[in-house]
Amino acid sequence: MSSYENYTHKSGNYDRTREPVGTEVIIGCLAHAPVPLDRTVILDAGCGTGSYSEALLGYVGRIEAVDLNPGMLEAAARKLAWAEGRISFHSSRIDELPFEEATLDGVMINQVLHHLPDDASEGFPAHRLAFREFARVLKPGGILTVSTCSQEQLRHGYWHYPLIPEAADALRNRYVPLDELFEILDDCGFAHRGSFAPVDATVQGESYFDPRGPLNQEWRDGDSVWSLVAGDRLDHALSRLRKLDERGELETYVARNDALRGHIGQATIVYASRR
Ligand SMILES: C[S@@+](CC[C@H](N)C(=O)[O-])C[C@H]1O[C@@H](n2cnc3c(N)ncnc32)[C@H](O)[C@@H]1O
Repeated sequence: MSSYENYTHKSGNYDRTREPVGTEVIIGCLAHAPVPLDRTVILDAGCGTGSYSEALLGYVGRIEAVDLNPGMLEAAARKLAWAEGRISFHSSRIDELPFEEATLDGVMINQVLHHLPDDASEGFPAHRLAFREFARVLKPGGILTVSTCSQEQLRHGYWHYPLIPEAADALRNRYVPLDELFEILDDCGFAHRGSFAPVDATVQGESYFDPRGPLNQEWRDGDSVWSLVAGDRLDHALSRLRKLDERGELETYVARNDALRGHIGQATIVYASRR
């Protein structure tokens, strides 16, 4: 379960703005699994509403989808009812999986790790538990893909984060820096094989560009940074946005704070294999 996000409440709004970024990269990585792609069994760890599973079902053999939140699991099961027999849903923690040792060909985990209650100063022990569990269930040579965000992407890849600097800092502190992630993967039995940042995709799709988006709860529900905004800071941020709008400066504000995103992207897919 997320340590700060109420996904039971959010599951209804999540798909309204959220899009699976980098699925073409993930599919390309999974194609290096120990069996042909169309026979692979893949774990979607923290599947949420199942958007990544939905994108992969046309390519892989079978998907085991795991999440702890009942609302997210129900939304995923409803959305993917058409794929019955090729996808199974499990209410489970990602660090205590209901699978035997060395039985899966691939594991993907997309934008989940920053929800773990963890401690950067202790070397991210909760991240390590999850990766050790992935190493346990993967076959030797099995593929792991991790969709995460680099510190740079979190600093410069989201135009609205400067409206809520304290929340943006708090979110960034929850993300393991990439160089530290590579070390953790190595410690947990994985060989890092590459990292890819799709620069032409945004996690909220076209709605990301809506300059008035943050004024709507539905829009804010598509990015967990907004759950880290303290009550009075939310009023402050929204009134700043309205003032920029009244002065005709909102579009310029968005363009200025979005200038680097097209070069660095918003998410990074880390690709590794089980040694
Ligand atoms: C930001 S959502 C991402 C959902 C999906 N992977 C996607 O990218 O669309 C994070 C998901 O991780 C799940 N989650 C967080 N911690 C978890 C844990 N320890 N075990 C299982 N699921 C977890 C949450 O319930 C939520 O559905």
